Amino acid sequence: MELEWLPGTDALILALRSVGVAAGDEVILPPFTFVATGSAVSALGAAPVFADIEPDSFNISAAEIAKSITPRTRAIIVVHLYGLAADMDGIRDAAKRSAIPIVEDNAQAIGATYKGKPMVRWAIVACLSFYPTKNLGAYGDAGMIVTNSSEMDTRLRTLRNHGQSSRYSSVEPGWNSRLDEIQAAVLRAKLRYLREWERARRSLAAMYSKMLAPVGVRQDTANSCGM
Ligand SMILES: Cc1ncc(COP(=O)(O)O)c(C=O)c1O
Repeated sequence: MELEWLPGTDALILALRSVGVAAGDEVILPPFTFVATGSAVSALGAAPVFADIEPDSFNISAAEIAKSITPRTRAIIVVHLYGLAADMDGIRDAAKRSAIPIVEDNAQAIGATYKGKPMVRWAIVACLSFYPTKNLGAYGDAGMIVTNSSEMDTRLRTLRNHGQSSRYSSVEPGWNSRLDEIQAAVLRAKLRYLREWERARRSLAAMYSKMLAPVGVRQDTANSCGM
């Protein structure tokens, strides 16, 4: 598994570019997410196409994705909002039928799992945000892309560093999306507390669920650990 470090929204832009998204393409995404998911699509000159969400997980519906695919669809972004997993089996089936790559927006889902497997393992590229309010927050902007493809890894390292495949040799237009080392140091120090903080969040969520149950408010404390 390869890791690329850069701010969260840049992670989405570069991930989309790495799977081939360019001006004039369509990218399917949920309408209920943080604005950055959609603006990453627009930043590449592509058109966001919204596929509606499921009422229980608040995440994009596999059936709605299937209905939204056109010959111009170049990628699907799946957001796991509030740490709740989207229906990855159904979504992967819909994507596979049309050979469309999935980009995971895991900005709110660090530590979340689907069928026992970490969320970042369900797509060819997965994006994390370490914005200060996230479960694992830097002292400024930071993020990460996770991929299990060495081809994608090489492309992403090039894209985030001015399109340079080696020093001063730019092979394509890129970005300056390198992570500040100071943020990396902060994240490294905080990472060892993530599990402990997650446990504390889950126990507070369970307490809220219990106390709010009499008025009909429910939270999926089994998997939720976002935001
Ligand atoms: C679902 C979602 N996607 C993308 C982002 C963007 O991440 P960043 O703020 O690190 O650019 C955020 C959070 O800010 C988010 O919650």
